[in-house]
Amino acid sequence: MKLVMAIIKPFKLDEVREALTPLGVQGLTVTEVKGFGRQKGQTEIYRGAEYQVSFLPKLKIEVAVPGELVDAVVEAIATTARTGKIGDGKVFVLDLERALRIRTGETDAGAL
Ligand SMILES: Nc1ncnc2c1ncn2[C@@H]1O[C@H](COP(=O)(O)OP(=O)(O)OP(=O)(O)O)[C@@H](O)[C@H]1O
Ligand SMILES: [Mg+2]
Repeated sequence: MKLVMAIIKPFKLDEVREALTPLGVQGLTVTEVKGFGRQKGQTEIYRGAEYQVSFLPKLKIEVAVPGELVDAVVEAIATTARTGKIGDGKVFVLDLERALRIRTGETDAGAL
């Protein structure tokens, strides 16, 4: 199992979710976050001037998936969240050791 964690532009959420559901993704967590990337949150860099870091609002989505789904999920997020402009975000994939569905007691892939 893998945990796919992606930082995306907030307005892309619906499109990303619509692309994930048909792949068999059964659940998703979304958190409002703030962050910065290489441009330090600036949309312009003033010539030579010092510029401050500013945090821009983003959404973090987390989806736990069985290993065989991870490539399709990453691809779907990458395709739908992309505008081609700076700040489109990133996708991180983490190993997921355990999962438990609290109501039923199912574990691991059966819990997702
Ligand atoms: N190395 C990182 N670690 C953790 N979060 C990151 C990292 N890089 C980017 N992020 C998160 O992703 C968001 C979007 O990053 P962004 O897409 O601007 O990255 P970038 O490297 O600057 O790429 P681009 O040049 O396309 O803008 C940031 O606001 C931050 O929340
Ligand atoms: Mg950036």
